[in-house]
Amino acid sequence: MQLRQRAIDAIRAQFGRPTGLRGRAAGLLMAHRPSNRRRNTWAVSLLDVRSDDRVLELGFGPGIAIRELSRIAAEGYVCGIDHSELMLRRARRRNADGLRRGVVDLRLGTVDELPAFDALFDKILTVNTNMFWSEPVTRLAELRRLLRPGGLIAVVYQPRGPGATDETSAAMGRDIAVALIRARFTEVRLETMRLKPAAVVCALGVNGAGT
Ligand SMILES: C[S@@+](CC[C@H](N)C(=O)[O-])C[C@H]1O[C@@H](n2cnc3c(N)ncnc32)[C@H](O)[C@@H]1O
Repeated sequence: MQLRQRAIDAIRAQFGRPTGLRGRAAGLLMAHRPSNRRRNTWAVSLLDVRSDDRVLELGFGPGIAIRELSRIAAEGYVCGIDHSELMLRRARRRNADGLRRGVVDLRLGTVDELPAFDALFDKILTVNTNMFWSEPVTRLAELRRLLRPGGLIAVVYQPRGPGATDETSAAMGRDIAVALIRARFTEVRLETMRLKPAAVVCALGVNGAGT
């Protein structure tokens, strides 16, 4: 049992910060697993991205959502932050065109210590990263301050581990929604997409406070 738990922890750690050979395997899984691609495409669709939007993604992994975002925000700006050097390299390769056009900006960094940005964002997205954050309410409040008044955040989660069920997703969705409210987001709502191995949940919130 201890061995099994250790194996699960080792895999989970790779998804939290992919590195080395195992990290490459995790990155390939994230990039090519159909459910992962669908989850990211769905997440982007919920943000109602405009062609000139400024969008920030935290924990972009292999860069699937970044590519989709930059395709829609073709005259905007799509910035991504991830603390894995391996994922940064992978995402840069996948988004070579967006980087060349100057629409995409991918940076090595952590959600715990966000860099300064030139201007506020219209949209913020994060997919399957919130479970790795320390003090999620504090992190969300910091992210709210990076959004323009009326700007939208989407926090997306799909449980992948053994025993994941739709109820696991629903419970996490409720937790994220509460965290968004505590971070002073308004118009908080939940969306769900049916998918295997368990439903994907997205908690959306608006920067209504403006401060
Ligand atoms: C499970 S992967 C999800 C990747 C991508 N969002 C997707 O759905 O395909 C989590 C990603 O978030 C990154 N990450 C986790 N915690 C982070 C943090 N505190 N700061 C920056 N990146 C983080 C990891 O390096 C990894 O690339």
